[in-house]
Amino acid sequence: MHIAIIGSGNVGGALAAAAVKAGHTVTLSSSDGEKAEAVADSVGATAAATNPAAVEDAEAVVLAVPGAAVPGIAEELRDSLAGKVVIDSTNPLNDTFSDLTTSGRSAAELLQDDLPGVPVVKAFNTILAGRHGNPTEDGKPLDAFLAGDDPAAKATATALAESLGYRVIDAGGLRMARSLEEMAFLNISVNAANGWVWQSGWKLVGPTVAE
Ligand SMILES: NC(=O)c1ccc[n+]([C@@H]2O[C@H](COP(=O)([O-])OP(=O)(O)OC[C@H]3O[C@@H](n4cnc5c(N)ncnc54)[C@H](OP(=O)(O)O)[C@@H]3O)[C@@H](O)[C@H]2O)c1
Repeated sequence: MHIAIIGSGNVGGALAAAAVKAGHTVTLSSSDGEKAEAVADSVGATAAATNPAAVEDAEAVVLAVPGAAVPGIAEELRDSLAGKVVIDSTNPLNDTFSDLTTSGRSAAELLQDDLPGVPVVKAFNTILAGRHGNPTEDGKPLDAFLAGDDPAAKATATALAESLGYRVIDAGGLRMARSLEEMAFLNISVNAANGWVWQSGWKLVGPTVAE
């Protein structure tokens, strides 16, 4: 799969490394082209000079930028995203990481409003960046929760997450992104409050097969 990743920081870099390792073609961009190039060089990806150039040949576009940057990127890329799947790995954290900036609807639903006709899937936002290179715990894959309203787009995100080694849990429609954004915030909060090492991941235990 050809993936564009917008943002070359903790998440963008780690996802790019894992995706390249899994055999995908990855194009990275950043607000600083030189940074994107350095990260791309270090993981075997390609850097693009701009966000629109990054998404040009991509089937799936992963947003890995600060939550506050998402509306501007939606505006910038709206005309370049036809026929592509947008995977929103962002979390709408405030400046001090002490709360989410959303109330009621999720950032992913707001993004979908901004991108009519382009399917948005919430995925990877519940997974700390440091786990993308090591998505197993006690010999079992960590869970990648995703949510979205378009089945084909969810299938694309599922294929990507599974190729990286995760077990995918389909949480339902995009409305469930509200829960996924709160799950991410909970994991962040407990790591910060307890001085943990930012490696904890979500795993649903017990039977998860249909009756
Ligand atoms: N860190 C985690 O473990 C984790 C886990 C799950 C989800 N998330 C979420 O994922 C997102 C990224 O987190 P992160 O830790 O990777 O942040 P980060 O390390 O600060 O990286 C953010 C990246 O986005 C780039 N960026 C900012 N504005 C941009 C724009 N307009 N166009 C293109 N690139 C832009 C930044 O470029 P410059 O450096 O040049 O500004 C940087 O490369 C956040 O929403 C976060 O809440 C993080």
